[in-house]
Amino acid sequence: MRILSGVKPTGRPHIGNYLGAIRQHIALQEEGHECIYFVADYHALTTVRNAEEMREHRRGVVLDYLALGLDPEKVIFFYQSTIPEHAELSWILSTVVPQGLLERAHAWKDALAKGNRDMNIGLFMYPVLMAADILMYQADWVPVGQDQKQHVEIARDIAEKFNHYYGETFKLPEPRIEKEVAVVIGVDGQKMSKSYGNTISIFDPEEVIKKQVMSIKTASVELKNPMPIENDIILSLYKQFSSAKELEELKANYLAGGFGYGRAKQVLLAGLLEFFAEARGRRNKLEKSKDLEEIMAAGTKKARKLAQETMSLVYERTGLV
Ligand code: ADP
Ligand code: TRP
Repeated sequence: MRILSGVKPTGRPHIGNYLGAIRQHIALQEEGHECIYFVADYHALTTVRNAEEMREHRRGVVLDYLALGLDPEKVIFFYQSTIPEHAELSWILSTVVPQGLLERAHAWKDALAKGNRDMNIGLFMYPVLMAADILMYQADWVPVGQDQKQHVEIARDIAEKFNHYYGETFKLPEPRIEKEVAVVIGVDGQKMSKSYGNTISIFDPEEVIKKQVMSIKTASVELKNPMPIENDIILSLYKQFSSAKELEELKANYLAGGFGYGRAKQVLLAGLLEFFAEARGRRNKLEKSKDLEEIMAAGTKKARKLAQETMSLVYERTGLV
């Protein structure tokens, strides 16, 4: 299978990003698939308005993925903007996209409903650029979190439309969503998201992660009483980072009474830090490495060859040659 996904460089990753996206991306490289991943910097331009911030975040994504185990020998990894064919194909695709299809996109509707003051056309076109990313590489599967599912479906609709007008050109992609962690809950009980400020980060200093964990919302239970194990944010997160035995132990402590949420949070914090210890160490080392841009340039070279093959077909089909 050919697998493709993009990561928007808009901030440091949190455990929702890890469980919903990054972990799957990295696992797939070991399963004998052909994986293509990129830093979606063109997409980030719809919201990031500062060059320094852009540079820092796009490099940050590369460090994050390499630290968490992405192997550039096994995966094609590059910056989206180093392959201008993405923008070119996005334009060509936009000419077959009905306006209504984009008006129905949840992300666009949400931004409108929230009264976002910067409703630029880039945001409106976001799913078309994303379709270009996906269709360019004739991807079979697109591993994403639940919130991106509709965008992949839109890419599929756009492929069908294009194929209908011009003949079989693009493969129809499928979203691939990890069920159990489809939505990771943040410290306040809403979906974990940078935009809600309710995240637990992976690579921030320990004190920051501690503060985030300590702010998790809990039921209010007197210390001597048992704590409910249903709908508990600490347990639902701990489950992802512990063995079955460790989880049972923590649950038993909940039910025994006299344990308290402070201690439960300490257990979660220790579990998280242990889980990410190796990656945190690796990221620190990589930060000083000079090879990063070389790795990315090698990825661009491989990806661009594939992109140009698709563009040749598109020129042919549309009569642009
Ligand atoms: P954020 O909502 O924090 O801005 P992004 O939109 O940048 O996160 O998402 C990056 C990737 O991580 C996407 O594939 C997205 O679906 C996934 N993701 C983000 N938040 C969560 C979450 N709470 N649970 C599961 N997956 C998530
Ligand atoms: N829109 C995705 C996000 O916000 C990032 C992205 C851009 C992407 N292009 C893509 C994901 C292509 C999968 C495939 O997370």
